[in-house]
Amino acid sequence: MPTMTEGLEKTAATFANRKVLVTGGLGFIAGHLVNRLKEWGANVTLMDARSEYDGDLEYIQGDVRDYAAMSSAIKGQEVIFHFASILGVERIEQIPLDVMDVNLGGTVNALKACTEHGVKRMVLTSSSEIYGEPRVIPTPEDTLPSPVSVYGVSKLAAETYCQGYAQQHGLNYTAVRYFNVYGEGQAQEFVISKFLARFAEGLPPIIFGTGEQVRTYTYVSDAIDCTLLAAGSDKGVNEVFNIGGAETISLIELARLIGEISGKPMEPEFREFGDTGVREKGREVFARIPSVAKARSVLGYRSRIGLREGLTRTYDWYSKNA
Ligand SMILES: NC(=O)c1ccc[n+]([C@@H]2O[C@H](COP(=O)([O-])OP(=O)(O)OC[C@H]3O[C@@H](n4cnc5c(N)ncnc54)[C@H](O)[C@@H]3O)[C@@H](O)[C@H]2O)c1
Repeated sequence: MPTMTEGLEKTAATFANRKVLVTGGLGFIAGHLVNRLKEWGANVTLMDARSEYDGDLEYIQGDVRDYAAMSSAIKGQEVIFHFASILGVERIEQIPLDVMDVNLGGTVNALKACTEHGVKRMVLTSSSEIYGEPRVIPTPEDTLPSPVSVYGVSKLAAETYCQGYAQQHGLNYTAVRYFNVYGEGQAQEFVISKFLARFAEGLPPIIFGTGEQVRTYTYVSDAIDCTLLAAGSDKGVNEVFNIGGAETISLIELARLIGEISGKPMEPEFREFGDTGVREKGREVFARIPSVAKARSVLGYRSRIGLREGLTRTYDWYSKNA
């Protein structure tokens, strides 16, 4: 098995001059992926529903629900990274049918267009949410899925559709299941950004429930490393990989760690789940901890950025940009 560095060097070489389309290309994780692909000399096109883009890449403003737009964006491309999605706990509960339409319908359009235009590989960005409250912890990929949100259902259905397309049409796909990705540029509706915002305002972080719920947070560059290793390897064809960081932490410990990093430690303020107006008590998944044994043994993946370092980088970025 090559080392992580050797694996990434080999992957960089496979992406040089490749024609790559990134859907949802203006999003948080996609932005980091695109920077890496640019460094590696890939020929990157972005597609996103947003109207504002002032970068130097080819940009297509388009909606993944629109088959004609997808087909024309995908024509001539070799690899598709499909990131366009609706996410965020509060948002998904308000517009469940849109979530299915974009996350599943958009994937079906991408699969159809990839088949039509002979794309070599489509990478689907899936989620730990497909496991619901996982039956096995740490959770390996073959754990029986049981999503508890429309978002989890949409991602599971999208993965299943990819399998179907691979069998029926010979399409090569790779699905990556991200576990709580964080880092520079993440929107404010996610827990780490929310904690950072509270500390920046000199206010205590707010925790819903007891704060005992545990997560493995994944720094965005680790997520990108693993996504690209999977996408660039023949061993990633028609496979699904969990992608996660190396450390697991409870919400309360996370709040304290961010407080310590910010230099303004403050004890969290606790609230009942019902106070959010969206979540009911007891509906939050207690433990989300991946087994990344498959990514390690098949792709040589290792998390390179520990939680303290990742949070420090994110805090520094946040202090300058938010
Ligand atoms: N952030 C995480 O922790 C996490 C965890 C698990 C899975 N994921 C998955 O990773 C991917 C990227 O997540 P992110 O955190 O960067 O999200 P993000 O919201 O920052 O990016 C999503 C992008 O998709 C675009 N988009 C939404 N609807 C669209 C449409 N109909 N047509 C075209 N573009 C559309 C948005 O404008 C946005 O730029 C998503 O598929 C998400 O489900 C993320």
